[in-house]
Amino acid sequence: MRTRAPAVIGLLAVASLGLGSCADLGGLDLSAVGDEGKTTYIKLALNQAETHPSYIALNNLSERFEEETDGRWKIEVFPNEQLGSQQEVLQFVKSGAIEMAIVSGTQLENMNKDFQVLNMPTTFTSIDHQMSVIRDQDLMEPLFQSLADSDNISVIGGFTQGTRNLYTSDTPVVTPADLAGKKIRVQESAMHIRMIQLMGGSATPLSYGEVYTAMQSGVLDGAENNEVSYVTQNHFEVAPFHSDTAHLVGLDYMVMREDLLQAMDDADRELFLKEWDRAMTEHTELWTTETDAAIERAKAAGTEFVQVDRDAFDAALAPIRDEFLTNDFQRNLYDAVRAADTEGAAS
Ligand code: GCU
Repeated sequence: MRTRAPAVIGLLAVASLGLGSCADLGGLDLSAVGDEGKTTYIKLALNQAETHPSYIALNNLSERFEEETDGRWKIEVFPNEQLGSQQEVLQFVKSGAIEMAIVSGTQLENMNKDFQVLNMPTTFTSIDHQMSVIRDQDLMEPLFQSLADSDNISVIGGFTQGTRNLYTSDTPVVTPADLAGKKIRVQESAMHIRMIQLMGGSATPLSYGEVYTAMQSGVLDGAENNEVSYVTQNHFEVAPFHSDTAHLVGLDYMVMREDLLQAMDDADRELFLKEWDRAMTEHTELWTTETDAAIERAKAAGTEFVQVDRDAFDAALAPIRDEFLTNDFQRNLYDAVRAADTEGAAS
């Protein structure tokens, strides 16, 4: 089990780790980023462990970018919520206290509800479908740039969260009725609270780093996540019943300070975006092998993989679309994403 620095320590860490010109929480001196003869340090917050595909892909991105700019840029990846929970670090990027973060789409929907479209159970049917949508710049541009002016946040792409399933500590879940009275952790999202309610459970929003202890102590009866998180967060130790609800193909985003992106010179920005694109590819490739490895690890540790009544869960979730697609932009985006699903097969 691990602990994480509470928010206030996260903030102090930001202040003291902020090398370069970051003596206060004001962050970088944007007039001199990437200059010859010095190193510009970029703080990137992640809530995953070092064994998670996101950490591996980001670390490799960091090494390539540093090498290709002869050390003028150094992206420092801080794993394990060292800089704070996703909710906290998103605010730090907004205020300029840190430069980049990986956050779940559920965090962005709290800034702009239109992001809900891509966090909805029925939106993506496979990782391939999801990644092809995320790489469609024309389709994504209005959403990705929607926070640039209001919040100084630029979304530059995404990492898949893979397929999310439900897991519980005491008894297996096969049908929605099995979830009655069970307290299930969800991300901090109105839509995901509703998702668990429709699936039959009682939803408890909580930050990622607190889930293990809450399940261990019995405050929660379960959670929902992908197999990689189930294993890298050690949730399998305290929730040994894994039900293949496959209710959602989730998405993380890379967010960065919009003013930093603009302050980079054109060649550096282009190089960074190219290397980020490679990181997305590497992450997607790693995802499959790491998911398989996670399932094997959990099985070896005694997890019971339970087959659910998928039709019953799908039917229970059906109303979510009408409840959460509330304006034309959202409905049009949803339709465009669904139309891009050429295979229509679950991953
Ligand atoms: C996944 C996802 C994270 C998210 C987490 C959660 O692990 O990649 O970004 O924070 O789920 O459930 O909170």
